[in-house]
Order: sequence, then structure tokens, then C-alpha cells
Amino acid sequence: MRILLLGGGGREHAIGWKLAQDNPSVDLIAAPGNPGLEELGRCVRINPSDPDAACALAELERPDLVVVGPEAPLAAGVSDALRTRGFAVFGPSQAAAQLESSKRFAKQVMLEHGVPTAGASWHTSSTEAVAAIRLTGAPVVVKASGLAAGKGVVVATSVDEAESAVLAMMNDGIHGAAGAEVLIEECLTGEELSVFALTDGVNFVLLPVAQDHKRLLEGDAGPNTGGMGAYAPVSLATPELLGVVSETIIAPTLSAMRRRGTPFQGLLYCGLMLTPDGPKVIEFNCRFGDPETQAVLPLLDGSLIDLMALSAAGRLHASADISATDGAAVTTVVAAPGYPEAPASGAAITLPEPPRGTIVFHAGTRRRDDGVLVTAGGRVVSVTAVASTFEAACRASREHAGSIRFDGSQFRRDIGWRELARRAGTT
Ligand code: AMP
Ligand code: GLY
Repeated sequence: MRILLLGGGGREHAIGWKLAQDNPSVDLIAAPGNPGLEELGRCVRINPSDPDAACALAELERPDLVVVGPEAPLAAGVSDALRTRGFAVFGPSQAAAQLESSKRFAKQVMLEHGVPTAGASWHTSSTEAVAAIRLTGAPVVVKASGLAAGKGVVVATSVDEAESAVLAMMNDGIHGAAGAEVLIEECLTGEELSVFALTDGVNFVLLPVAQDHKRLLEGDAGPNTGGMGAYAPVSLATPELLGVVSETIIAPTLSAMRRRGTPFQGLLYCGLMLTPDGPKVIEFNCRFGDPETQAVLPLLDGSLIDLMALSAAGRLHASADISATDGAAVTTVVAAPGYPEAPASGAAITLPEPPRGTIVFHAGTRRRDDGVLVTAGGRVVSVTAVASTFEAACRASREHAGSIRFDGSQFRRDIGWRELARRAGTT
């Protein structure tokens, strides 16, 4: 079986790793891939968000399945272009990917169909947005409606801070076109969960639930990042809670998308806040999360290839095999100095052989012409440890992350702390 995987981050390395675990003889082509994916298959340097380039590569390689990793190709219509040419694709259409690419669209769908989410208004005029902030008062959340590489959200603790965020997005254009429209949103409080629903547009299955550590510093302090670590499963995600999430959030959203004539097929990432009034949606993403995927996929016993192929073919059954190993997975991201503001790149990386049960996924790495592996992005690698106990997984992930060397490397030594505290009964 030949699979074309679009993307080249830690998430794509984890997906490629799982596909190769499912079927060691899979012929994997990653575009553009990364040095980790090079060990699993071939990498072809194209821009995965260019529909013509993706189609030309697919015509050449004739894959049995195309898996689209990141949101940018989905938002650019790459899956539509491939499907028009007859390829089986895992990933939503451009229209369905609006659940992530337009926060205004997602909010409208949720509000129209009674899906629990933070109350919000949306504005294309900064004067109106500022008026909405004054009406809501602080704390309040300001969001760029479009794709802003995870940087378009400001949780403001004062009206002044929220107004500055609006002006920066709408008048100074710090996120370009993504900030031409903003949402002014009610600030929710509670624990966050990342729930992954894999769907063919009608049926869906839930993968093990993860929690992300978005802040740069230990204790969940410092600036927001793309994610400094993650773990799965999360003890808060009881079967009862997941029943409520399925019934009040996932099923009505999929049904709304079908009724609009734009069924959502692929991976629906539900970023949830467990509020005192029950789970509410903070955001939808139209693809796997990064770094949650690096924790979730190593736990799956069932075949991801089968799930993705059934989703692409519109034949997923709610009874599909999603069995997961007992135990836990903890992922620690090792980031470049200066991340997230201005990560430095080009430092030589020493990657020791991981112990059994530990996997290193590449993200911001590059192999120089002389063969030396160097840093080439903010989040450089992520280290996932799978163990029979949560504590052991935390320790193994942290220890191996500490053995990876490059100038100025930074990582959090407390990934999983919320779960440890819950298990110790201190939260
Ligand atoms: P996002 O980029 O949409 O994942 O948002 C980044 C982070 O901002 C989320 O993980 C939350 O911690 C926070 N956030 C987003 N929306 C809200 C909200 N309505 N209330 C409170 N926090 C939020
Ligand atoms: N970890 C957050 C995201 O993938 O959007």
C-alpha cells in the first residue's frame, strides 16, 4: 500500500510512524517530510499547500491514500483538488475546513445548532469590536477569525489589553488578512481537553483524549506556544463526559455540516473547556493536534491506516477498532532558544538512541548537506514515552528530553503535572 502524507512537522512524523507500525511494508511518501520521516519512507520537497504541486506528485506516485496533516493545505483546497482527480483523501474539503479556517464560521455553526461554546460577537470594524469589548468587560478573549498559526488568540485580563489586541490585529494587521475580522468572546474557565473525533462525515470514533501544555514555562506560565507537551489519556475524560461531548458537540456539528452540504470528513479536533456548566467548545481544528498526536497515536493498538481508509471511503462504522493500550503516553517538546517569539536555528543536534518505549519525533530539524542534523524551527523534536504507569511515562519523557543536546535547548520538566496532581488528589 502506498500512502502520500502531506506535511513535515512532529504531528506528521507521528502519523507516519503509526502508519509504518500498522503496516511495516507500507510505501510512505512524505511531502515535504522531515529527517525523521526520511527514516520511514521517501520525502519529496514540495509545498504541500499548493494544490497543483500536490496533484502533480499524486499523479506521479498514484498513492492508495493521501493523508493531509496540517490545516494550511486543507484551507487551500488541496483535498478537493486531489479528490476531483479520483484520489482517496483523509482530510476535509476546503468548505468543511472552515471549522478551523474561519472562527466566525465555526461560531455561527455552533450558535445556530445549540452546540455549547463561549458566547461571542464578530466584527470587521475595529470601532464595533472595541464597543463590544466595553460591553462585555474584562476578562475577555479577542480572536483573529482566520488562520494565524496558533497566535491569533489574546485572553485579555483588562479592557485596555483587549482594545490593544483589536487595534494590533485590525489596524496594524499583525496577522495579515486573518485579523481583518475578529471575535470578541466570553472568557471561559476550567480544565482544557483535546478530543479527537475521526469521522467519515456521518459516523465517528473517539481516540484517547489528550491534554496540551500550551504555555512556555513550567506551571503553565509564560507566553502561549504551539504546545510544549501533551499527555494521554486524561482521567477527567470519563465515559460519561465523552458521552455528553459526543451527544452535545460532535454529533450536532457533523450533522450541521452535512445539512449545509459540506460534510466534515477527516479528523475533527475539539478543543474543549470543562466549565462548571459542562463541556464547551473553545475551538475546532480540522486536523490532528500537535503535540497531542505524538501522545495519542502511540497508545492506539488498532490500525490507523484502516480508520483513515474507511473515513476516506465514507465507510466508517462506530464499532471500528480503536483499542488502545493500557498505560499512558507523555510527550515533551524540546524547543529552540527564542521560541516562541524568534526561534534561532542552525544549531547542531545530538540525538541519543531512545530507550525502549520512548520515541523521538522530528519537527524543526534539517539535515545539512554534510549529514549533520541541525535545528530548523521553533519546536525542534518531541519525545514521547509510553509506560504502564503515568508517573513512569512522565519520568521517561522528561529524562530523554534532557539527553537531547543543542545550543539553548528549552523544555518543560513538568509535562503531565495536572494529571499527577489529580491522581494525588491535590486538585
Ligand atoms: P486557540 O489558539 O484557539 O487554541 O486558543 C489558545 C488558548 O487560548 C486556548 O487553549 C485557551 O487556553 C485560550 N482560550 C481561547 N478561547 C478562550 C475562551 N473563550 N475563554 C478562555 N480561554 C480561551
Ligand atoms: N496543540 C494545539 C493545536 O494543535 O492546535
